[in-house]
Amino acid sequence: MEKVKIAVGSDHGGFVLKGQIVEYLKEKGYEVTDCGTYSTESCDYPVYAKAVAKLVSTNDAEKGILVCGSGIGVSIAANKVKGVRAALCHEPYSAMLSRLHNNANVLCLGERITGRDLAIDIVDRWLSTEYEGGRHQKRLDMLEQ
Ligand code: RB5
Repeated sequence: MEKVKIAVGSDHGGFVLKGQIVEYLKEKGYEVTDCGTYSTESCDYPVYAKAVAKLVSTNDAEKGILVCGSGIGVSIAANKVKGVRAALCHEPYSAMLSRLHNNANVLCLGERITGRDLAIDIVDRWLSTEYEGGRHQKRLDMLEQ
């Protein structure tokens, strides 16, 4: 079976958590594209959010995961790319709903807010929940227009 492709990115504020997520995803057998950043040197989150969001919008990655200090900057940036529905989640229930109802294709996390183990729970729930479709599709179509 072909591996699911996931694009991952962060700024310096999300660098450590991004590394932990990349390690976990690889262990689980996902094909991971790490779009950077590659150190804790100060950098600008829109650059990395755009890189991940572009891969998702062109279907070069099925899903994306972004991390910054709060998760807010990367979520604002990713949502500017057409076709991207980025959800900032602090717990697994929201992550599940973002898939079920919003078909979120990018998950955003905040390293200053969410510790490694909770972040992994959020990632797991997000990746294992399928979009429900049905009544939600009309609303997603409205977002595209
Ligand atoms: C960087 O200091 C911080 O502003 C950034 O990681 C993020 O939290 C922005 O929303």
